[in-house]
Amino acid sequence: MPKMEIEREGNKKLDKPERKEDKSVLGHEGQKNIMKVENLSKTYYQGKIPVHALRCACITVRKGELLAIMGPSGSGKSTLLALIGTLEKATDGKVILDGTDLTTVPEKLLPSVRREKIGFIFQHYNLIPTLSALENVELSMRFSRIPKKEREERATALLEELGLGDRLSHKPSELSGGEQQRVSIARALANKPAVILADEPTGEVDSKTRDSIIRVFKELSEKGQTILVVTHDPEVAKECSRLLRITDGVIKDD
Ligand SMILES: Nc1ncnc2c1ncn2[C@@H]1O[C@H](COP(=O)(O)OP(=O)(O)OP(=O)(O)O)[C@@H](O)[C@H]1O
Ligand SMILES: [Mg+2]
Repeated sequence: MPKMEIEREGNKKLDKPERKEDKSVLGHEGQKNIMKVENLSKTYYQGKIPVHALRCACITVRKGELLAIMGPSGSGKSTLLALIGTLEKATDGKVILDGTDLTTVPEKLLPSVRREKIGFIFQHYNLIPTLSALENVELSMRFSRIPKKEREERATALLEELGLGDRLSHKPSELSGGEQQRVSIARALANKPAVILADEPTGEVDSKTRDSIIRVFKELSEKGQTILVVTHDPEVAKECSRLLRITDGVIKDD
């Protein structure tokens, strides 16, 4: 299994300037709690009928936690990730991530905050089919101020660490499901996000690939990367450091 050396201290080449924390929002808590979800709610309307997809969720997540989120279909798991990821607007409540209250960030600044602080991993990988593995990862850094050469170096290093050093120029259609998912993990890591949000990342892969993805998540978590994983798979959940259960939009912390 690839060693995850990428985030190790002293690897100066890959480091980016230290993230500034807004201590006024999180205070001392900011040191150990990377994220706080406070009374987060989402109500969709189907015609005039309200659908309470998430009800008053409160979660505190410590830096480096690998958090599993389980619940029946339609219970609100993807809604929770979409709200944390600022892909949907909350009906009520707050998401404070890495010192920033995401629910008060003006619409036009959301894409840059999202790019800087959040890494997404999806069930269907969502890679760009016409780009190589390397280009898919490098693309996610294109809006940062990192020069192209460094972006390519970092993308290459990430892919190598994920065991894809000999697949850099392969297009997604030339990669297996597990390889595509590892490219998407590299892409999610590219901008050193405060949190990775993974929605059923092992939903499409065989059990061997699933196990290798869990191992990558665990290694990243041990190095301080915070990861939230929505899963239907008890084998994934049992490897996580904590489990949240969600039923009808209500969260229970195990
Ligand atoms: N855009 C939307 N408009 C209306 N209702 C929605 C919308 N998105 C989600 N819902 C409803 O919100 C509830 C929660 O949906 P969500 O996608 O979060 O479930 P989930 O737990 O991720 O389910 P699954 O395991 O099937 O992916 C469901 O009842 C769903 O029908
Ligand atoms: Mg879902």
